[in-house]
Amino acid sequence: MKKPRDLLFLGLAIALHSAPYAHGQAAHRVGLADNREGYESTQYKTQSEAVLEQSGQRLPLAEQANDPQLGLPRIAKALHSEEVDLGRQLFFDRRLSANANLSCAMCHVPEQGFTQNELATPVGDEGRGGRRNAPSLYNLAFQPSLFWDGREHSLEAQVWSPLLARNEMANPSKEAVLERLTSIPAYESAFAAHYDQGLTAQTLGLALAAYQRALISGNSPFDRWYFASSKNTGDFSSQAARGFDVFKNQGCQSCHTVGGEYALFTDGDFHNTGTGLLREERGIMPKQVQVAPGVFVIPRVDVETETFIDEGRQEVTGRSEDRWRYRTPSLRNVALTAPYMHDGSIRSLEDVVTFYVQGGGHDPHQDQRIRPLDITAEEQEALVEFLRTLTASNVDALVADARSIEIGDRDNTAY
Ligand code: HEC
Ligand code: HEC
Repeated sequence: MKKPRDLLFLGLAIALHSAPYAHGQAAHRVGLADNREGYESTQYKTQSEAVLEQSGQRLPLAEQANDPQLGLPRIAKALHSEEVDLGRQLFFDRRLSANANLSCAMCHVPEQGFTQNELATPVGDEGRGGRRNAPSLYNLAFQPSLFWDGREHSLEAQVWSPLLARNEMANPSKEAVLERLTSIPAYESAFAAHYDQGLTAQTLGLALAAYQRALISGNSPFDRWYFASSKNTGDFSSQAARGFDVFKNQGCQSCHTVGGEYALFTDGDFHNTGTGLLREERGIMPKQVQVAPGVFVIPRVDVETETFIDEGRQEVTGRSEDRWRYRTPSLRNVALTAPYMHDGSIRSLEDVVTFYVQGGGHDPHQDQRIRPLDITAEEQEALVEFLRTLTASNVDALVADARSIEIGDRDNTAY
C-alpha cells in the first residue's frame, strides 16, 4: 500500500486538521464536497474526506478517447497514451505552482466533476481570489473556445494562463516553471523520451492538453435512451422524458443543443442570460470569503485583470453588445458541477431552473429567449430530473484513474 497523504483536501488548497476517514469506505467516489453546514462557527468539523491514498485504477485513457462514446462525436486527433500519462502526472503535481502547494486538480477536483463544489469562485496562491467559477474539464476536446468569455482557443496554450496568474499558480515566468520541472529527473527523462525538443513551454502544454482532451465522458442514461439503436429506458425515467419535452418546448435546446447524432448541450456561442446584471445589483465589491472555519479573507482584485468587474465577452471583442455575454456551458455532467453560472452565483439545479422560470436576470439587454416560463411545479421537477440524467457512465472510473498516480510535491522524489 502506498504512503498515505493527508495534505490534499478536496476543494481547498488548505490543509485542515485530519479528517474523519473510515477504513473500508470507498476511497474514490464522486461528490465528496462538504455541505458546510454551521461553517460560520470555529467549532466546525469538516465532513470532507481527505484523499488519504492514491490507489485508484489506471485506465487506458488515450485508447478509450479514440473510440467515440454514445452521444459524443469522434475526437479530431488521436491521442497517445505516453502523452496522456505525462499530462496526468503534471495535472496533479503541486510543484507546478510557485510555492509548490497548488495543482491544477485542486481547483478542478476529479471527485467534484473536475470543478470545485465548495467555492463559487476559487481561491488561488496565498488566498488571492478570482472572479469566476472554475468550469468543469469534461469533454473539452469538443469545445471550440475556452474560458467563460472564449478568450482562448488552444488547450495547449491555455495552460500558461493558470500557471502564471498571480491569483492561481503564481509562477513568475515560464522559465521558472520549466527550470523547476527540469530539475526533477523523472520529468526530464519522460519529456526527452516523448518529444524531440524535450521539456519546453510548448511540450508542457501538449502533455497537459492531452490528458484534458482524454477526459471524455458521454454514454449517460439520456444518451442510452436517445441515441442507442436499441432504446434503453432502464435508468431514464418517464419523468426524465417529460423533462426532456419541457427542455425542448421551452427553448433550452436552442442554446444547449442536441443534434441528431450527438449532443454537446452547448452551441459554443455567447449569450446574456441576465446574470451580469444580477451580479452588479448585488454589488461589485467582493465579499469576504471564508477559506477555513473562522478564517476570512477579502479577495484582493483579480490580479490578471486588476478588477472584479466582469464584462464577459465584451472584454474579448470590445463590442458593447457583448457585455455580460458568457459562453453557453455544456450541460453534460451538470449534476456534479455546482455551483452554477460564470460567477458560481446559483447553488443548485433547482435554483437554476427557478432562475429560468422567473425569466433570468431581467436585464433589458438579455437574450430574448430568456423570458418567464409558464410551466408547472411538476414540469420544473421533471426538468431537473432530466438534467440529472446527463451524468456519464464513466465519471467514477475517471476519478479512480485520476487517483492512480502518486501526487507530485516537495516530498515526492519518485516523480
Ligand atoms: C486557483 C484555481 C485554479 C487553478 C489552480 C487552475 N484553474 Fe483552470 N480555471 C479556473 C477558473 C476560475 C477558470 C475560469 C476562468 C475564466 O473563464 O476566466 C478556469 C478555466 C480553465 C479552463 C477552461 C475550461 C473551459 O471550459 O473553458 C481550462 C482548460 C483549465 N482551467 C485548465 C487548468 C489547468 C491545466 C490548470 C493547471 C495548469 C488549471 N486549470 C489550474 C481555476 C483554476
Ligand atoms: C439564450 C441561450 C440560452 C437558453 C435559451 C438557455 N440557456 Fe442555460 N445557459 C446559457 C448561458 C449563456 C449560461 C451561462 C450563464 C452565465 O454563466 O452567467 C447558461 C447556464 C445554464 C446552466 C448552468 C450550467 C453551469 O455549468 O453553470 C444550466 C443548468 C442551464 N443553463 C440550463 C438551462 C435550461 C434548463 C434552459 C431552459 C429553461 C436554458 N438553460 C436555456 C444559455 C442559455
